[in-house]
Amino acid sequence: MHAWEDQRLIATARVITDGVYYATIWDVIVDPDYQHRGVGRAVMRRAVEPFVGRNFSFIALFSAEGKEPFYEQLGFRPHGRGMILDEAWWPGPREGAQE
Ligand SMILES: CC(C)(COP(=O)(O)OP(=O)(O)OC[C@H]1O[C@@H](n2cnc3c(N)ncnc32)[C@H](O)[C@@H]1OP(=O)(O)O)[C@@H](O)C(=O)NCCC(=O)NCCS
Repeated sequence: MHAWEDQRLIATARVITDGVYYATIWDVIVDPDYQHRGVGRAVMRRAVEPFVGRNFSFIALFSAEGKEPFYEQLGFRPHGRGMILDEAWWPGPREGAQE
């Protein structure tokens, strides 16, 4: 999703969803010249609105460090079950390796 002023791209947000259970929001970016004017909030509303009230298992995102308050004022809350792969460890203990 994009927001434009005339021919200028001023904000983006990307939604990845299966349309039924999960929606994730990525790449929420507002042009610095347009920040703190409500553009980010408007883009987020457009991104999230289609999924609210449809009994999705989750509507989620990863916040950039320090941007949590931006998402919190929209109703997002920290969630403790997220996990990120430690690629150095993949694919886990090697067969025969001592733990
Ligand atoms: C985070 C970002 C998308 C916010 O966009 P924005 O258009 O400036 O936000 P809005 O004007 O809609 O802000 C709405 C409210 O969110 C909060 N907010 C906005 N930016 C914030 C920030 N950087 N830190 C904390 N709270 C913030 C404020 O409560 C604000 O309300 P207020 O203006 O009445 O104080 C924008 O700062 C941005 O693009 N940053 C760089 C890219 C980035 O880090 N994106 C997030 C990736 S997870």
